[in-house]
Amino acid sequence: MVPNVSDPSSIGTVAQDGTAHLAGIAQWWRDAAIYQVYLRSFADGDGDGIGDLRGVRDRLDYLADLGIDAIWLTPWYPSPMADAGYDIADYRDIDPVFGSLADADALIAEAHQRGIRIIIDVVPNHCSDRHPWFQAALAAAPRSPERSRFWFRPGRGPGGDLPPNNWVSHFGGPAWTRVTEPDGRPGQWYLHLFAPQQPDFNWANAQVREEFLSVLRFWLDRGVDGVRIDSAAILVKDPFLADVEHELPPQNVHAPAQQSPDTEPLHPYTDRDGIHEIYREWRRVADSYPGGRVLIGEIWLPDPRRFALYLRPNEMHSAFNFEFLRCAWDAVALRRTIDDTLAAHAPVGAPASWVLSNHDVTRHVTRYGRADTTFDFAERHHGDPLDLELGTRRARAAALLTLALPGSVYVYQGEELGLWEVEDLPDAVRQDPMWHRTGGADPGRDGCRVPLPWSGTSAPFGFSPAGAAARPWLPQPATWSDYTVEAQSEDPTSMLELYRAALRLRRDQPALRSEREPLRWIAAEPGVLAFRRGDEFACVINLSDAPVELPENDSVLLSSDPLHGELLAPDTAVWLRLRGR
Ligand code: GLC
Repeated sequence: MVPNVSDPSSIGTVAQDGTAHLAGIAQWWRDAAIYQVYLRSFADGDGDGIGDLRGVRDRLDYLADLGIDAIWLTPWYPSPMADAGYDIADYRDIDPVFGSLADADALIAEAHQRGIRIIIDVVPNHCSDRHPWFQAALAAAPRSPERSRFWFRPGRGPGGDLPPNNWVSHFGGPAWTRVTEPDGRPGQWYLHLFAPQQPDFNWANAQVREEFLSVLRFWLDRGVDGVRIDSAAILVKDPFLADVEHELPPQNVHAPAQQSPDTEPLHPYTDRDGIHEIYREWRRVADSYPGGRVLIGEIWLPDPRRFALYLRPNEMHSAFNFEFLRCAWDAVALRRTIDDTLAAHAPVGAPASWVLSNHDVTRHVTRYGRADTTFDFAERHHGDPLDLELGTRRARAAALLTLALPGSVYVYQGEELGLWEVEDLPDAVRQDPMWHRTGGADPGRDGCRVPLPWSGTSAPFGFSPAGAAARPWLPQPATWSDYTVEAQSEDPTSMLELYRAALRLRRDQPALRSEREPLRWIAAEPGVLAFRRGDEFACVINLSDAPVELPENDSVLLSSDPLHGELLAPDTAVWLRLRGR
């Protein structure tokens, strides 16, 4: 079968030779639907209560049937798991809890056979304190080449008892830890913008740069289709390690004060201009491979113009649109965010991306069920009054909004099941360093990482194989018996069937997959968002508190909840085929 490069709808059809088929469509990422697999919590193949690669391989048909184009897998590398795998001890292997390199190779091949691409997570800002380079640095002397791959500095104050500067860890507490020197004396301090077990690399060091180019090649050689770049905007540090002048809220991950694209950024580690040359080097490596290998950045920046600089044609292909995720369920705010996003991406020629949830944020069913529907790390509204039914209705409407916007879209595992944030986990089972390092002041991220319910009526709901000795690593709510894949399949009113139908239609509607069909707003009443893609497709979302009339149309393609005649109820969205013009 010869892939039809100009026809994006051919993405995902299964060719006899999956790999050759995939290689033909280099621009696949511009409008892909990408499913985030949070590996520990997706499916447990070996019965130890932790998700693994066997589990993903066993569920590839589920993902193919859902209608996604690619999977992004959270880190699979050997790790002491101080931050659930974002503390990597070896960038070229797989942690035994997840499987082996052979499993990774098999997963890549089996996914490709189904027309699904594989994106892996690469963490360049920091490694694990168990990484051989950090171990060597601890054993070496101050100012040694081993220490210069990290940020070791003497302390301030008498005896060097104070950290070298005032930086604060994103997980709470100081961003510096003091080491004991090999001779037993209290010694230098090292920088960790996250947990102490995650020492920051020094990206001014040429060996660090070379090492990551080699890591990229290692995985691209094995056939991965892209990398998601963790904490991508904070690699480059002020060489003088100046104090942060305007302290950020500790959990407001990576967000500096608003900066103009024309001025030198003021922040000592976020979004410094020198970072762009790193990604230009990475892009040259990615472009040296066939088949469209992509770089996707985790970039939390409030200024869309600074954000877009990372998406220039010789840098990353795409980045997560967190301003959309953070936005309130409000027509004016959403329209402004959508317009700002599209306006910022257009000059650099990059497609927009649309994200509602991930493994770091409160699940959106829960966010949308509260009085304050925004997301902010500094204020998670944990425990505030919650209307799950309202949150679910809005999440259904949000799915149709998101899947109709131009660009790529992310689905975080479990969002297609309508799962909510599990906020009543017992303290004893919580594992997130955010929870521990803030002394419980921050609820942390365990609540959005609870293992998926697949089947059956009691825990582990098919997450682990029948008869598994271990229980899931986080307990699942008993009420998830109604939310399993099995319970929702073929129920036309379920969230799962809504996602399946929407993803299928998104593939089949040329207007939704074509960049030639930009978003065009249609005049609508206050509180209503309505837009066209092409002449025949429209999406209308009612965010007001009264029913509204549908625009003139030929037929209803899909609605997030049942329609009442020609009326669209509050917090409902609809996809329409318009009258031919
Ligand atoms: C990113 C990841 C998050 C992790 C942090 C440190 O923000 O998404 O899960 O804790 O980086 O690696």
